[in-house]
Amino acid sequence: MCGIVGIIGKENAADILLQGLEKLEYRGYDSAGIYVTDGQGENHLIKSQGRIADLQKKITGELTGTIGIGHTRWATHGRPSERNAHPHTSENGRFTLVHNGVIENFEEIKQEFLQNNSLGGETDTEIVVHLIAHFSKTAENTKTAFKQALKVIKGSYAFALIDNQEPEIIYVAKNKSPLLIGLGEGFNVICSDAMAMLQETNHFVEIADGELVIVEKENIQIEDQKGNLIFRESYEAQLDLNDIEKGTYPYYMSKEIDEQPSVMRRILEQYTDEQDQIHVEASVVAEAAECDRIYIIACGTSYHAGWAGKRLLEDLAGTPVEVHLSSEFSYNMPLLSEKPLFLFLSQSGETADSRQVLVKVNALGYPSLTLTNVPGSTLSREAKHTLLLHAGPEIAVASTKAYTAQIAVLAVLAAAVGAKKQNPAASVFDLTAELSLTAAAMETIVDEKMMISQLVESFLSDTRNAFYIGRGMDYFVSMEAALKLKEISYIQAEGFAAGELKHGTIALIEEGTPVIGIITEEATAAHTRGNLKEVESRGAKTLRIVSESLAGKQDQLIIPTVHPLLTPLVSVVPTQLIAYFATLHRGYDVDKPRNLAKSVTVE
Ligand code: G6P
Repeated sequence: MCGIVGIIGKENAADILLQGLEKLEYRGYDSAGIYVTDGQGENHLIKSQGRIADLQKKITGELTGTIGIGHTRWATHGRPSERNAHPHTSENGRFTLVHNGVIENFEEIKQEFLQNNSLGGETDTEIVVHLIAHFSKTAENTKTAFKQALKVIKGSYAFALIDNQEPEIIYVAKNKSPLLIGLGEGFNVICSDAMAMLQETNHFVEIADGELVIVEKENIQIEDQKGNLIFRESYEAQLDLNDIEKGTYPYYMSKEIDEQPSVMRRILEQYTDEQDQIHVEASVVAEAAECDRIYIIACGTSYHAGWAGKRLLEDLAGTPVEVHLSSEFSYNMPLLSEKPLFLFLSQSGETADSRQVLVKVNALGYPSLTLTNVPGSTLSREAKHTLLLHAGPEIAVASTKAYTAQIAVLAVLAAAVGAKKQNPAASVFDLTAELSLTAAAMETIVDEKMMISQLVESFLSDTRNAFYIGRGMDYFVSMEAALKLKEISYIQAEGFAAGELKHGTIALIEEGTPVIGIITEEATAAHTRGNLKEVESRGAKTLRIVSESLAGKQDQLIIPTVHPLLTPLVSVVPTQLIAYFATLHRGYDVDKPRNLAKSVTVE
C-alpha cells in the first residue's frame, strides 16, 4: 500500500526511480510522483494522477540529478489527484517528502503547530513536511527537526525526506510500514520492497520501527529512538529478476495461475526430507502439537485459505481451529483457550490488520506462527515461528498461487503435527503422493483454460451479479471464487453456503442470474445439486464445477478427483480462470483492479 523508492549517488536517478516505481505499482496506482535534484539548484518535481505510465508521459526532457525520491499512491486521506500525489514539499520548497502509512493525529498537528501555514491538499502527509519545516526554524539541524516531528507524529509511516540545503542525504524513518535500504557501490537506494531495486543491488539492510536512518551515497547511519548508533548486517535478497517479469504472458495473474502446479511441487521439495517424508522444523511442530487450539488470523484471500486450513488441521492434527478476520479479532477477541497458538496467514507478511493482532498476541505472551510468501516480512520477523510459502513473488493484485500455496503449506503442517501426535487420520494420509496427484490435476485444468474462456463469455456476459454456492470445502472455495470475481471483473458476486441460500438470499435470484455450484464432496453433492435446482426453478442459469467421480452428463466443468482434504487446491483453479476471463472479456485491467492494492499496510 503506497510504494516508496529513493536513490542517492547515481547519474540516472530519475530513470531508476521510475523503474522502481513500476515494480511497486502493486502497492497502489492511483497517482505517482518523483523528485530529483542535482544538488546544484536544479530540482524537478513531477507528479501525476493515474499510473506510472501516466507519470512517464509527463516527463518530456532529461531530468538530471543524482538524488531523488519517488512514490506510487493508494489514497487513504484525500482523493487521488495530482495535488494529493507525493512527493510533498514545504512552503519554501526546502523540504520534500514521501510517505507510506497513515498519520492518525494530523488534525491535532495542524491545530497545534501549523495554524499559519496554507495547506492546499487533503493528505495527512503534507502535514509532516510542513511540521519538519516548522521545527527546522529553531532546531540545530535537519536531523533534529525530523526527530522532533517524529516525536509528535502518531500512526504508521515510512518516510523519505530530502532537504535541499543538504542534497547529499536522504533522511529515512519508519514505524509499522515497510522500508529497506539497498546497498550499492558508490550509491545507496531505499525501497518499500526489495523487488523495486533488484536491478541495482541485491544487498539490503532492514530498518526497525522507531529507527531513523541517514542515507548517503557511500554510507548509511542507523539510529534508534535514543540516538544510539545501530550496526546491522546486510542480507542478500533471494529474488530472481526473472521471477518478477511477466515473460510472454499478457498478465501476471495468468502467469501465476499457471505456476500453481509447480508451486505445489516446490512446496513438496521444501518440506520433505531425503526419505520423501514430510518434514517441518521441529520447534514449529512441537509448538503446534502442544497447543490446545489454533487461532488462524488473516484477511481477504488468506482468510479464505484459513478455512480450508481449519479442516486440514482438525482432521489430520486433531487440534481445534478457529478462523478469524484480523480486522475484527483484536477488537472483538473471543475467550481464548488455555494454550492457544496464533497462526498468521499472509501472502505479503505486511498486512496492517494482521500485524496489529500479532502485536497484541506478542504483548500477551502467546506463541505465534506466520505462514507467508515473503521472507523477512514484518509478520515473519515479529512472530515466533515462520513457515514460507515458496510460491515465488505474486504480483497480480488478485491472489491466486498464494492461496493454493497457503493451503498446501497448511496441509504440510497438519500432516507433520498429526504425525507427531500420532493421530490415526494422519497415519493413513500420504501427503507427498496426494499433493503430487493434486499438482497434476491442477495442470489438467490449466491446460483447458480456453474452454473456460468460451464458457465464461456467454455465461457471465452483461451480468451485474453472480453467486457461487457449495458446502463444506466447496463453500470455502465459493467464498474465494466470489472474491476473485468481484475484485477484478467488478461483478457483484457472493460465495454462499448452498444450504443457506434458501433462508433469505434466494430472494435475489432473478431470470438469468448466474449461479455457479461447486461439487467435490460426496456427502453433500446431492444437497448442493438440489439447491441448484431450486435456483433454476426461479430463473437462474447455473454452471456446475464437479469432481469427475461425482459428475453427470449435464455438468459443464468437470475437474479431476483428488483426496477430499485437497479438493480446494483443484476446484479453485477453474474459478480463478473464470474471474480472469470474465475480466478480459469486459476489457478491464486484470492485474490492477480499481481501488485495490496488494499489500495493505493501513488498518
Ligand atoms: C489485500 C489484497 C488481497 C489479500 C489481502 C490480504 O486486500 O488485495 O488480495 O488477500 O490484502 O493480504 P495478505 O498479504 O495478508 O495475504
